[in-house]
Amino acid sequence: MAINTVGIVGAGIMGAGVAEVAASSGFDVVLRSRSREAADATMDRVAKSLDRLVAKDKLQAAEAAAIVARITPTTDFADLAECDLVIESVVENLGIKLAVFKELDQITKPRAILATNTSTLPVIEMAMATNRPGQVCGVHFFNPAPAMGIVELVAPLTASAETMESVTAFTRACAKTPIAVKDQAGFVVNALLFPYLNNAIRLLEQGVATKEGIDTAMKGGCGFPMGPFALLDLVGLDTSLAILDALFAEFAEPNFSPRPLLRRMVSAGQLGRKSGSGFYDYRH
Ligand SMILES: NC(=O)c1ccc[n+]([C@@H]2O[C@H](COP(=O)([O-])OP(=O)(O)OC[C@H]3O[C@@H](n4cnc5c(N)ncnc54)[C@H](O)[C@@H]3O)[C@@H](O)[C@H]2O)c1
Repeated sequence: MAINTVGIVGAGIMGAGVAEVAASSGFDVVLRSRSREAADATMDRVAKSLDRLVAKDKLQAAEAAAIVARITPTTDFADLAECDLVIESVVENLGIKLAVFKELDQITKPRAILATNTSTLPVIEMAMATNRPGQVCGVHFFNPAPAMGIVELVAPLTASAETMESVTAFTRACAKTPIAVKDQAGFVVNALLFPYLNNAIRLLEQGVATKEGIDTAMKGGCGFPMGPFALLDLVGLDTSLAILDALFAEFAEPNFSPRPLLRRMVSAGQLGRKSGSGFYDYRH
């Protein structure tokens, strides 16, 4: 099925990033968020991200304006009715995602594909919340979506071959490399990444080194572009906690059991870059 118009539900870090990617690749985008203020803030974020490319001579100012013009912000689910593909990117919480899928199933056209950007949650549950399980799958972009080159494509047991072909073509049209993965918590990247991030917090709790020391060690010792605490702050500590909780619920392995410090920081509202502070302070 040809994809021309892409809907995005959830205007957080990933919703904004995926909207920018799809609009930059020529798709018309309808971006649904819960409030007008959030929608405006997201449009602002996309425009600023494109401005940075213009400043680096990687994009013409007129192209940047055309990309922004291809995104229609809305607070109304009904505006997603004509989308060929809708990518849900709301908070990593299964109950909230299931409610979104039920709503999308009611208002989108029968042929539309419904996808989730979940990092860890079972895609089959979202598929079975709809009357079109063959047309539901995972399309897992990475953060920041415009910069990261891969997308994990998750086929739940119910997904049709046509659905996976369509989202594969969409991913390629977005200039991303698709990787087919099983519907299992964490897929590939987060199943490998999060035990590492969780253990970095354990080392910090044990006082083995400071957070700066651990970040510097992993950059210099492993050639990683950023250390674990900078990465946790980028991902968002609430999202990181939800990912570890989902991994632990699936596998019950100690490495996936979220470290107490992570849970305490989320309770304290220290969520990383998006809240202004996490392991590091971003308010200055
Ligand atoms: N942050 C990352 O690095 C990353 C990377 C890949 C995938 N993801 C996944 O993308 C999804 C979104 O994560 P994010 O990082 O953009 O989070 P975020 O916190 O930046 O944004 C979450 C969005 O969900 C909305 N939301 C919260 N409660 C809601 C509700 N009850 N109903 C509808 N919307 C609600 C918020 O308003 C916000 O727009 C999650 O499934 C996450 O696992 C995140």
